[in-house]
Amino acid sequence: MRRVSIGLLGLGQIGSEVYRVISRKRSLFQKRYDVRFDITKILVKNTKKKRFKSLDSKLLTSKPSDVLKDPSIDLVIELVGGVALAKKFVLEAFRNGKDVVTANKALLAEEGESIYKEAKKLGRQIFFEASVGGGIPVIKSLREGLAANHIHSILGIINGTSNYILTQMSQHGVDFDVALQEAQAKGYAELDPTFDIEGVDAAHKIAILARYSFEQKIPFKSVDCEGIKHISQHDIDFAKRFGYSIKLLAIAKKQKDGIEARVQPTLLPNNHILAKVDGSFNAILFEGDEVGEVLLYGKGAGPEPTASAVLSDVIDWAKGIRSNLPRTSKSQVKVKSISSILSRYYLRFSVIDKPGTLSYISGILGKHNVSISNVIQTEKKSGTTVPLILLTYKGHEADIRTAVKKIDSNRSVIREKTRVIRIES
Ligand SMILES: NC(=O)c1ccc[n+]([C@@H]2O[C@H](COP(=O)([O-])OP(=O)(O)OC[C@H]3O[C@@H](n4cnc5c(N)ncnc54)[C@H](OP(=O)(O)O)[C@@H]3O)[C@@H](O)[C@H]2O)c1
Repeated sequence: MRRVSIGLLGLGQIGSEVYRVISRKRSLFQKRYDVRFDITKILVKNTKKKRFKSLDSKLLTSKPSDVLKDPSIDLVIELVGGVALAKKFVLEAFRNGKDVVTANKALLAEEGESIYKEAKKLGRQIFFEASVGGGIPVIKSLREGLAANHIHSILGIINGTSNYILTQMSQHGVDFDVALQEAQAKGYAELDPTFDIEGVDAAHKIAILARYSFEQKIPFKSVDCEGIKHISQHDIDFAKRFGYSIKLLAIAKKQKDGIEARVQPTLLPNNHILAKVDGSFNAILFEGDEVGEVLLYGKGAGPEPTASAVLSDVIDWAKGIRSNLPRTSKSQVKVKSISSILSRYYLRFSVIDKPGTLSYISGILGKHNVSISNVIQTEKKSGTTVPLILLTYKGHEADIRTAVKKIDSNRSVIREKTRVIRIES
């Protein structure tokens, strides 16, 4: 039987669970794969911290070289998080002849190119199933089950915290702040939830998926990113009246003239398969040229699902899989600027209720080539502020933004900044 000695970098939420699974399932893995996995060194920041009972505390170290330079360690699992330090550790592991498994989405989205380049140069591998979709086997599906396809579209609900908040707001009428506190109490959201609610976490993940699927370099800065913190109960209720749900959607599409890569709150028709993905669950809808649509669904974060993905990489590595690095096609196309995208839009104007307002707004939209498909105007006493909701036909983002800016500048008609949400069908 083969023995694999593993060095673990980080023993936080995910590292601790990886340790526990390896201890608990060691004999199962031996039987199934004829490999014995042993964690032989663990890097932490604070070796004195109180940890879980089953831990062998003799394995702890605060010196990175104890893991990275130990010749007896075969494989390194990076679960420290962050970008700069994790990059340093990963590159050092490669230089010391070690392959790496990581769950670090920020690292790969922001520094993936230099890591893949170094891995290629040194003949090393990096496995990152746990970086996207938690326990859902997304990278493995792309690498294996969808290997014969050109993937041209990815739509994902890939931030469980945002999806939980939007679901609570929609199904229980809970305010954003209350839903966020609940998400934190249930362990879905980080103590600092900024990356979740501002869409950065989902942007990291879609950048990784687009890079892998389209075989194109995706500079992280080119991924347009908007989170859910401006979504109000009004928007959720009006969307419902039109037959839509609001979801934080990560979108990547490969078209002839470039790639679209963005994260945005989105109106999805209620009969769209992703509109039914609720709570903290994640789902990713791929479209491939041979297979058509494929939906992957499951738990997108948390220690157990993430450790499941980390271990699947460890087992793949032990089986000798050597093809996990993203390919780079010769013909690179650019990521399109957000102003060039074509979409339908939901517009919520906060207007002063007086005759002629609707025709004034529709006139300006019309001048910018934007046509209206649906309208809701709630009635109130003349002179008060009321919401006016318009859905548009497809228009260019640049035209919509210019028209809305012009409308918003007329303070005799508009009271608050207009809410613009894209519609996906
Ligand atoms: N949490 C999730 O649901 C989830 C899901 C998917 C992917 N991920 C990714 O998994 C990775 C780990 O996340 P986590 O939630 O487990 O993080 P975490 O709980 O914050 O744990 C981080 C670990 O790294 C150690 N560490 C931090 N800085 C260090 C330093 N300078 N030197 C040595 N050790 C250091 C910490 O040591 P101490 O224990 O001594 O403080 C801790 O053990 C991240 O990249 C995250 O994005 C997390």
